Amino acid sequence: MKIGIGSDHGGYELKEYIKEYLYEEGIDYVDFGTNSLDSVDYPDYGEKLSRAVVSGEVDRGIAICGTGIGISIACNKVKGIRCALCENIYSARMSVEHNNANILALGGRVIGKDLAIEIVSTWLDSKFQGGRHERRVNKISSIEANL
Ligand code: RB5
Repeated sequence: MKIGIGSDHGGYELKEYIKEYLYEEGIDYVDFGTNSLDSVDYPDYGEKLSRAVVSGEVDRGIAICGTGIGISIACNKVKGIRCALCENIYSARMSVEHNNANILALGGRVIGKDLAIEIVSTWLDSKFQGGRHERRVNKISSIEANL
């Protein structure tokens, strides 16, 4: 599995921390920036990451900004993206099992680094359950298709 990861300046430090974790775990990743603490605009990085997920360049994505809110909103504007902002382990698991989230959003100024790693690890290990959840996710896709 190849993971895409992207952030603005508010998520930069957490992005670098998560990259170390992915490297240590032997998980392949592509970094879509940003590459410093200089101020940038989160929609640019959310869009780049989301397009890579939709095109199949990466299998799933991790998007980070200060709160995780702005970048998750931006990611969810790209057709085919189901981006879930998670601040706890239960939500991280459910976002995949029930919602088939293909991008995890995190708030670099909201959660601690160790919790972030637990969330990432849970999210990566979780599997979509399908069944009735598939019917609901398909309904989300038809809302998108009919826009
Ligand atoms: C940047 O200052 C901040 O607004 C951004 O990282 C994010 O929190 C937006 O939702």
